[in-house]
Amino acid sequence: QRLQHDPATRQPLAYMRLRRAIRNVIENGEVQVGHALPSERDLARALTLSRVTVRKAIGGLVEDGLLTQRHGAGTFVSERIVKPLSRMTSFTEDLRARGLNPRSEFFERGIGEVTPEEAMAMNLSPGTLVVRLHRLRYAGDEPLAIERSAVPLDLLPDPNLVEDSLYEALDKLGNRPLRALQRLRAVVLGPAQTRLLRLGAGSAGLNIERRSFLEDGRIVEFTCSWYRGDIYDFVAELQSD
Ligand code: GLP
Repeated sequence: QRLQHDPATRQPLAYMRLRRAIRNVIENGEVQVGHALPSERDLARALTLSRVTVRKAIGGLVEDGLLTQRHGAGTFVSERIVKPLSRMTSFTEDLRARGLNPRSEFFERGIGEVTPEEAMAMNLSPGTLVVRLHRLRYAGDEPLAIERSAVPLDLLPDPNLVEDSLYEALDKLGNRPLRALQRLRAVVLGPAQTRLLRLGAGSAGLNIERRSFLEDGRIVEFTCSWYRGDIYDFVAELQSD
């Protein structure tokens, strides 16, 4: 068993270690989406940890969206993809963290001049060259989202550097974005979109626009995504002023 006790977990940050261990078990697909975790009491006993530690570790993973608690029924690996709004993660990272297999079908992966809309969104002058990606994004065989991205050519010199993950390619070039502005809107998906996403006509989706930036403020991407409304939850922690 992956969750075996090791002496190091007796340290004050035991809950963080446990949180990582449970995360690994989910990432490796050892506990599958929709399945239940052992109860807090059983986990605590099996790992000889306190229930407070176990509760804290599980609470953290619920916050991350990886686990869902159903009153009276227990703790489950989330079926919906619950995405904290405040984190700058990529599609690939979000899926891998859930033990799912991200992949993309490319409709376009090339170089072109910015469209007027992209030029305005990215504050670039007309004629600037960008790498443009248009992808259908899957978890295994299941389509989850459609994404169109534009990245200035000086930050991503060759579209083929993007094998599957844009952020992985940018990371390798030292150009991974550090912050982003994001807008989320409810939409009725169009006929071409519902066909690609294998949804019924008129299904709901979430349209997300992300503009992301390097530390020095240069824009790295303008991405327009359409996520399936029946599978994605976006969550955020709010604080009063
Ligand atoms: C999310 C964001 C996009 C970003 C993408 C990168 O879907 N909404 O703005 O471009 O992640 O994902 P990946 O690195 O898997 O291509």
